[in-house]
Amino acid sequence: MMSLMLICALLPVVAMAAVSNAGCGSTKACFKSPEGCTLYTDCTFFLSYVDNAEMSAVDFEMLADRSGTDGSGWAGVGFSTDKSMGSDSVVMCMKPASEEGAVQTAFTTGTTNALTGTDGLSNGVVTVTNNILECSFTRNYSINGNANFYDIESTSYYFLIGTGPITSGTPTEHEDYPCASDMKLDITSKDDIMCSDAHHSSEESNNVAIMSPAAHLIIFMCGLVMALFY
Ligand code: HEM
Repeated sequence: MMSLMLICALLPVVAMAAVSNAGCGSTKACFKSPEGCTLYTDCTFFLSYVDNAEMSAVDFEMLADRSGTDGSGWAGVGFSTDKSMGSDSVVMCMKPASEEGAVQTAFTTGTTNALTGTDGLSNGVVTVTNNILECSFTRNYSINGNANFYDIESTSYYFLIGTGPITSGTPTEHEDYPCASDMKLDITSKDDIMCSDAHHSSEESNNVAIMSPAAHLIIFMCGLVMALFY
């Protein structure tokens, strides 16, 4: 009896963010990178989510291999209307080098990512073991009156999934472009999440869109000059 009480008393202390791929495809939706990888063997990134209707929320798990770093860093998921960074409602799991891990919301404006706090989040746990960052948290569907905390139940979004460093306590640019889910995701789905090429930022895309006709005109003019004079 005494030992049972001791175990119960210790439980909150040993809370782990242990991520599991049990139930992928049947009880939860999973994203694995590289595709088909095995957790704790060759996955460099993993994300899963499952609807938690009782709490009007969604339970998330993430794992990011931070090998080659001091183990600090962030792993994040952004909910996006397009496949670009900018105007995304984000959740970041962060583990600065010498501080406790933390889970926070953020909102991106262009390619700037601003942390916004912990409203709408619960059960956040971040751990790093052997440079593997693991995280679990529960995100409410929505927050009344907070338009930057997207309602992921009534609207489907692309998921932008990435990882990057923490520099002087602040999450900074991802080493690689985060991946974007190939379709907008329904939070009740259990299907595997496929990743497609993420677009560059909205601002960059706009610049490319503005530049394109000019670039085409220059190429056309060069072609014309060469055809006339050579
Ligand atoms: C389609 C996916 C994304 C693309 C193509 C993208 C692209 C970029 C680019 C080009 C920058 C550099 C900005 C500069 O130096 O001016 C940047 C910065 C950054 N991105 Fe992304 N991004 C994407 C998604 C995300 C997501 C989902 C997050 C968070 C979970 C994120 C977090 C950051 C952070 C923290 C920075 C550093 C800028 C800052 O301090 O705010 N990005 N991104």
